[in-house]
Amino acid sequence: MEKILVRGGKRLAGRVKISGAKNAALAILPAVLLASGKVSLSNIPDITDVRTMLRILEDLGMTIRRRGRNALDFHPSRLRGHTPPYNLVQKMRASSYLMGSLLARLGKATVPVPGGCDLGPRPIDQHLKGFTALGAKCEIEHGLIKLTAKKLTGAHIYLDVVSVGATVNLMLAAAAAEGRTILENAAKEPEIVDLANFLNAMGAVIKGAGTDVIKIEGVKRFGGAEHAVIPDRIEAGTFMLAAAAVGGDLVIGEVIPKHLEAITAKLKEMGAEVEVEPEQVRVRRTGPLIPSDLKTFPYPGFPTDLQPLAMVLLTAAEGTSVITENVFDGRFRHVDELKRMGAQIKIEGRTAVVDGGGALSGAPVTVTDLRAGAAMLVAGLMARGETVLNQAEHIYRGYEKIEEKLSSVGAYVKPLRERSSGEVARDPG
Ligand code: UD1
Repeated sequence: MEKILVRGGKRLAGRVKISGAKNAALAILPAVLLASGKVSLSNIPDITDVRTMLRILEDLGMTIRRRGRNALDFHPSRLRGHTPPYNLVQKMRASSYLMGSLLARLGKATVPVPGGCDLGPRPIDQHLKGFTALGAKCEIEHGLIKLTAKKLTGAHIYLDVVSVGATVNLMLAAAAAEGRTILENAAKEPEIVDLANFLNAMGAVIKGAGTDVIKIEGVKRFGGAEHAVIPDRIEAGTFMLAAAAVGGDLVIGEVIPKHLEAITAKLKEMGAEVEVEPEQVRVRRTGPLIPSDLKTFPYPGFPTDLQPLAMVLLTAAEGTSVITENVFDGRFRHVDELKRMGAQIKIEGRTAVVDGGGALSGAPVTVTDLRAGAAMLVAGLMARGETVLNQAEHIYRGYEKIEEKLSSVGAYVKPLRERSSGEVARDPG
């Protein structure tokens, strides 16, 4: 179990560079299975979810060469099988994308029902409905999803819910289907656009990504491609919200500010100063924070992934704020831990009422999922005294060099290592 020690009360000042987007990389990596030429990817974040996906691809038979911390080359390889291993698949939700990519490449996929952050029920009915419309047979047996298709044929698919995962999976399968697929009520996230750009670079014909209607003309063969993954808007949003919550003056660099509009608007509404430049944003907090109501929605709405961080920020605003979580049912699991740090929060169904203004105090807390972990880290930076985050490994799933980045802007954040006796020792770094 990983632990992180945080000492609160230090302002954040300086510049951080944002890594490549986790959710784009996790969609693009399975798409590499379709390539019949060399693929070179850059700006791939070095995080545990990406490492897990790379191990799955290697296990399936892919040859991967690292060109640097964030750059990888993939050579076309004969695949050993169509069943990614359970122990890796259950670690993350994005392993479900292997369904779409293996179906496209081999016409069959057997994938354990995927794991990932525990955010309440996370059905995959829309993925399966789409695969079926494209001509695949879907069976679920002994915890395995078995997909087979003699031939994939383009179809008109209307998603009942806006789903990032279903949109990715159906783009992957439809890219290799015969004929035209029209995907309606598709997700519009920038990561979907990045995947479409990558697939098109390999020879796919996809139009409309970034709108709610995506049109895909299937192709028989995909070549190689070179592609740089977009910056991670959720990591950028994490630092933006942290700067406002902890106080200070932070320049968040190498971002696409357009992807951060919902966060920028919310921060301004709350009284933080946000300066937007072509490739960076600067966030400063000079005065008190104003309470604000917040609702999560699919892109371009306020992202659910930043809701736990926004909640921490709202604890610093004098007065009452209401958060409505519209995307996931179970996304308030961090609340009990935040309460242990003194936060005043009440939950009713999909709504959280935050009574802000009281100071937080450091405490041992347990990280429940990736973004909740980031929220607790920021809460620790705001709090008086020391906070120890237990089960911090969740954080490393999605944040590259998080301790280093935060320390470089003045925070006191250290990984703790367990001694064999169980005693915890300070990491010398
Ligand atoms: C992705 C992101 C995650 C983000 C989420 C919403 C990745 C790897 N993960 O997750 O970080 O929080 O989008 O922006 O990119 N749903 C169904 N049936 C389905 C599929 C989804 O009912 O077949 C529901 C879900 O339960 C949820 C909503 O649709 O309530 C949105 O889920 P979805 O967009 O699919 O999220 P993920 O792709 O799992």
